[in-house]
Amino acid sequence: MERTFIAVKPDGVQRGLCGEIMKRFEQRGFRLVAAKFMQSSEDHMKQHYLDLEDMPFYGGLCKYMSSGPVFAMVWEGQSIVKLARMMLGETNPADSKAGSIRGDLCINIGRNIIHGSDTLDNAKREIDLWFKAEEFVTYTPCSQAFLY
Ligand code: PPS
Repeated sequence: MERTFIAVKPDGVQRGLCGEIMKRFEQRGFRLVAAKFMQSSEDHMKQHYLDLEDMPFYGGLCKYMSSGPVFAMVWEGQSIVKLARMMLGETNPADSKAGSIRGDLCINIGRNIIHGSDTLDNAKREIDLWFKAEEFVTYTPCSQAFLY
């Protein structure tokens, strides 16, 4: 079972899209194992995007990501790293297909509402950067008990 790191970015939070985004992951059949609503520091975002430090947009990206609260989550499921990236759409929303999160909900590459880990290695690195072991919730789904 894989885990991936997903964050609703400050623009997604302020546009009220957390519920819509969570709904899509739940309906796909993935399982939420950790979540927190927090405002990150610029230094934390510099760590998160360290592999992009030579890109011209690095500074602006880190400022934008620390400009307001983000909804940080860890989701679990089969092949979730790859499938979550497909659900997100392309980095540039203008290239994203309708039906994907970015294809349906945003327009601008610099305000693309959601982050998702791009590889299993990066998912592990990002999960460790954002969450402590005690912030994970383990539970046995008991959906049958709620059905008549
Ligand atoms: S790149 O350019 O190949 O490294 O791009 P990519 O791997 O797809 O994107 C890495 C993250 O950088 C963000 N990004 C940008 N932000 C602002 N402006 C521009 N032009 C830009 N291009 C890429 C992109 O959204 C990725 O962040 P996450 O959080 O993963 O979406």
